[in-house]
Amino acid sequence: QSDRQTYVIANWKMNKNLNETAEFFQKINSSQDVSVVICPPAQLLYPAHLMIKQSGKPIGLGGQNVHWADKGAYTGESSGSMLRDIGCEYVIIGHSERRQYSYEDDELVNKKVLHAIKSELTPIICIGETLGQKNALQTEQVLEKQLCGALKDIDSSNFILAYEPVWAIGTGQSATAELAGQTHAYIRSILKKIIGEKAEGISILYGGSANESNAADFSAMPDIDGVLVGGASLNAQSFDGIINVF
Ligand code: G3P
Repeated sequence: QSDRQTYVIANWKMNKNLNETAEFFQKINSSQDVSVVICPPAQLLYPAHLMIKQSGKPIGLGGQNVHWADKGAYTGESSGSMLRDIGCEYVIIGHSERRQYSYEDDELVNKKVLHAIKSELTPIICIGETLGQKNALQTEQVLEKQLCGALKDIDSSNFILAYEPVWAIGTGQSATAELAGQTHAYIRSILKKIIGEKAEGISILYGGSANESNAADFSAMPDIDGVLVGGASLNAQSFDGIINVF
């Protein structure tokens, strides 16, 4: 396989309190073979940073969202430097839930990606089609538009992509490894048009009902460089099961 970095990343979304977070970091194992990253809700980032440090385990920390400005009058927002300051190295940008509930479009996603890179955070950029778009055979054009939009004016290859078909998120209906593998190869071909040969080095993760049982199928596909996990990342044992597959 390639020498791309493999990632197993937890997106806890709006779940867990302080006690549950402490319990998770006590139980979770880490791995030398893959980069493990946990993305807790904003309020738990700093305690999670301290817990990871105390555990001595090689686990990375990421935010689930970031603003696009360095500082100023933006009530309720956090900047990239603030995330860095409390121990984050990664940030999820463009998740379909933010596109849906917080009306984030490709232009805003792009501003956040550029800001994250400037702030020395690695953006985990999410793209994916809805069921309606899939059924209308628009998957490729949707992904191309989201990808070109997110990466406009980018001059760095310090980012991770996550293909998350919206119809597979939280539904228990993951994409088959074959379909995901083909789609990842397509995404890499578009990426090549945008950033050239560097596209070969970019990790593309699959997300959408990934779990202990299907992780091995995804890991076997040449263009799938890890998983971004929602539901199955909340339980330390299940998440460990996924880590061990990669
Ligand atoms: O970002 C991860 C995600 O959207 C997938 O969620 O619960 O289907 O694993 P889930």
